[in-house]
Amino acid sequence: MSDLKITKVTANIGARVSGADLSRPLDDATVTALRDALNEHKTLLFDDVHLDDAGQQAFVRHFGAITGAHPTVPAVEGAPGVLPVDSGRGRAANNWHTDVTFVLNPPQATSLRSITIPPYGGETLIANSAAAYRDLPEPLRRLADTLWAEHTNDYDYAVPEEAIDEDEAARRAQFTSVKYRTVHPVVRVHPLTGERGLFIGGFAQRIVGLSKSESRKVLDLLQAYVTRPENVVRWRWEPNQLVLFDNRITQHYAIDNYDGLPRRLHRVTVAGDVPAGVDGKESYAIEGDASHYTSVAKVPAAA
Ligand SMILES: [Fe+2]
Repeated sequence: MSDLKITKVTANIGARVSGADLSRPLDDATVTALRDALNEHKTLLFDDVHLDDAGQQAFVRHFGAITGAHPTVPAVEGAPGVLPVDSGRGRAANNWHTDVTFVLNPPQATSLRSITIPPYGGETLIANSAAAYRDLPEPLRRLADTLWAEHTNDYDYAVPEEAIDEDEAARRAQFTSVKYRTVHPVVRVHPLTGERGLFIGGFAQRIVGLSKSESRKVLDLLQAYVTRPENVVRWRWEPNQLVLFDNRITQHYAIDNYDGLPRRLHRVTVAGDVPAGVDGKESYAIEGDASHYTSVAKVPAAA
């Protein structure tokens, strides 16, 4: 095994990893150590990463089959697993979300690699939703355990109509060209650690059994625990970095604070399992088939 060094960045989330050369095939012991570190810290931060698109996809494959770039948004040319996250193509990621939760089995992990970094701003916030769950007062925790939420890619992103120009309208049309609706447990049990986390975020639009306005209040109440500063790492990007986060138990937010300057990351995600709630019941799809985008990960028995 390489001389892997894992150093915490904050108490609740994030660790820097050094001593692994991501451009080479990793041995099993290193992959296991990285998987364990991801389970513990939720977000791993790698410096001095010299990968191209093929290299990023190869690295991410150590954690499982990779997904297509996105269910509806095209990949980088020649790299079918790479989604361009580019400020020139809209900045809609400045809301708290977990990637692609509108499908039945959202990616289990997400990697982001820095390509172009603005001279200031453009940080990514990543929140530990298991810490958020633990922070809930007992009565709220009990309530959350029983709730299910409908996630969809088709909702008004709180962007005022007049702020939507032609390009943005075209991007929105592409994003929602296939409409997805999936019901997930509000509290998801992590299949590898047994840890419970709030599984909501921007695509969660309605709580099953509640009205739209009641849903909003409950979701806002729970979400406030996710975004507590103590549960968040704020990552200031530099060139040649890669961030890997556990998409089953985190949320993230791309801060729109760089005056529209060029900013580009490349994203590769690992196919996920179907989420399960505290009673073992699994998520179910209402609308939209994502089988062209992702396989379903088989999960080993929970630890
Ligand atoms: Fe994202």
